[in-house]
Amino acid sequence: MTGLNGKVAVITGGNSGIGLASAKLLAEHGAQVVITGRRQQALDQAVQAIGPAATAIQGDVSDPKHHRELTELVRTRFGGADIYMANAGVNTITPSGDVSEEEFDAQFGINTRGTFFGVQAIGPVLRDGGSIILVGSLASEKVLNGHSVYAGTKAAIGAFARSWALEFKDRRIRVNVLSPGPTETEILEKLGVPADDREAFTAMMAGAIPLGRLGQPDELARAALFLASDASSFVTGIDLRVDGGMALL
Ligand SMILES: NC(=O)c1ccc[n+]([C@@H]2O[C@H](COP(=O)([O-])OP(=O)(O)OC[C@H]3O[C@@H](n4cnc5c(N)ncnc54)[C@H](OP(=O)(O)O)[C@@H]3O)[C@@H](O)[C@H]2O)c1
Repeated sequence: MTGLNGKVAVITGGNSGIGLASAKLLAEHGAQVVITGRRQQALDQAVQAIGPAATAIQGDVSDPKHHRELTELVRTRFGGADIYMANAGVNTITPSGDVSEEEFDAQFGINTRGTFFGVQAIGPVLRDGGSIILVGSLASEKVLNGHSVYAGTKAAIGAFARSWALEFKDRRIRVNVLSPGPTETEILEKLGVPADDREAFTAMMAGAIPLGRLGQPDELARAALFLASDASSFVTGIDLRVDGGMALL
């Protein structure tokens, strides 16, 4: 059911965290994986960690030219792709009154514009019966302090997914959102929480999660494998929360 032999998966932001864990797991299940990211060194390390099934291409998802180059690589090297996981994303915590235009544009540019133009570019080379996974966030439905802009960037992704689930249906390409709750990745260090406050911040997050802890990248990767594979063959247009129950409180 979760076998991916002969499949090609493209994962944006595949050099770190949830994207890297997903790339490793999909490769273990037989897929060729193409990963992206801005940091070349992290890409090189990720390719080493994933093994011979991995190919990397550096670029910034907020730049549509990068998506065209990525699509061209996929077309020429593999003839197409079966799985596209729009995972690259950033988050900063800022009260709405303090958000600058630059911060707003940067988050929408990467999380929202990056997702939209990524799918627009790769769409024509996705093979019939494929799977598109858009990485959203629990923050799009649960109010978290200082997350208004980030929540907006991810709420748009839910709207894209519902539109695309219908736009791609005639090619049997399924489109779903995977919404993580707090997960232990590099993003926690990048949030802007001062180093001295990080332990308390993590403990506070864990206290707000019914399962009593943060998620691990592997746990998100297993959900990505479900959405990528035939295990979810009759699932399209959903938002799969993987959040330890945090949405309930
Ligand atoms: N961890 C959580 O608690 C959590 C919760 C909800 C949702 N999410 C979502 O999960 C996704 C993955 O995040 P993560 O937790 O795994 O964080 P992470 O470890 O920081 O990974 C983020 C990835 O996105 C890439 N990226 C960021 N900006 C990019 C850009 N402009 N162009 C290309 N790649 C870019 C990064 O690579 P480079 O830095 O090399 O560009 C990195 O590979 C994100 O969409 C995030 O919003 C995470």
